[in-house]
Amino acid sequence: MLSEMHRGLILMNRGWTQRILLYFMVAGTRSLVTVHQPAVLTTALGDDVMMPCHLSLSHDERMLAQPVLYWTLTQNTTDSVRMFPSQEYERRVELLDKSRTTSNKSIVLKNVQWADSGKYLCKLSITTQRDSSFRMRGSETSLKVYDTVTFDLAAHNGSLLRCEVNVTPDPGFRLSISHNGSELQTADSEPGDARAAPHYVTLSETVPLRGEGEYECQLHLNRDLITKSVFYHLPDPAVGVLPEPWLLYVALLLVHATILLSLIAALLLHRC
Ligand SMILES: *[C@@H]1O[C@H](CO)[C@@H](O)[C@H](O)[C@H]1NC(C)=O
Ligand SMILES: *[C@@H]1O[C@H](CO)[C@@H](O)[C@H](O)[C@H]1NC(C)=O
Repeated sequence: MLSEMHRGLILMNRGWTQRILLYFMVAGTRSLVTVHQPAVLTTALGDDVMMPCHLSLSHDERMLAQPVLYWTLTQNTTDSVRMFPSQEYERRVELLDKSRTTSNKSIVLKNVQWADSGKYLCKLSITTQRDSSFRMRGSETSLKVYDTVTFDLAAHNGSLLRCEVNVTPDPGFRLSISHNGSELQTADSEPGDARAAPHYVTLSETVPLRGEGEYECQLHLNRDLITKSVFYHLPDPAVGVLPEPWLLYVALLLVHATILLSLIAALLLHRC
């Protein structure tokens, strides 16, 4: 009876998402089949990134056929492109666990580029015993890319320390600079302008160089530390380099002294 009822509802709705939602409403509070994806992933430009996707079935549910897996990518537009399986992405996308029976549907996207930022969706066509075929999707993984953080003295002013990084446009990205562990008020910060290059913005922060010690520039996405770069402001370079040559000079002097002493000893022996 229940089964008849939800099948009827399923046929009435066109969008498969709606079908699944109704299915769950009719079948009860517990979902029988779910697809899990992380909401956000960050990766360094040029790296390979794993995009997790995990299928889970409740213990009393059984699949009648192997699920069919698709991954799609949606960028700024509303159109999505299929990236797995796909000829276009064949060289860059790899299914991690190739066995079709596995619940691990994660893929690896290789050599990540700026244009790869976007929303990745893991979709499965499933056929279960309780219900005939239906499609199931995860809740999208948003991929954000960042480049190397540069942290050095400003080119135009040696008493300023400047931190810079290119990132996927996202208001959640933030740079902060600390000196010996305490955060500094930045003198000049640029929020980044996406007009020049559509796929990334440049964030930059500048602080006056205050004293010796360790300066650290951190890139955060909301509350998470993504990457950091360290700058050491050492004591006067002349003082810093001193110990090494002195040791060398002393060693050289010792060698010469040893040779001289041996010669003198040899001469004295010869005379005797
Ligand atoms: C899926 O498989 C990959 C590669 O074997 C592994 O690194 C990853 O942790 C797996 N994910 C889960 C959820 O088991
Ligand atoms: C460098 O910047 C500091 C702080 O903004 C300023 O006081 C100083 O005059 C600048 N020096 C030069 C050479 O521009």
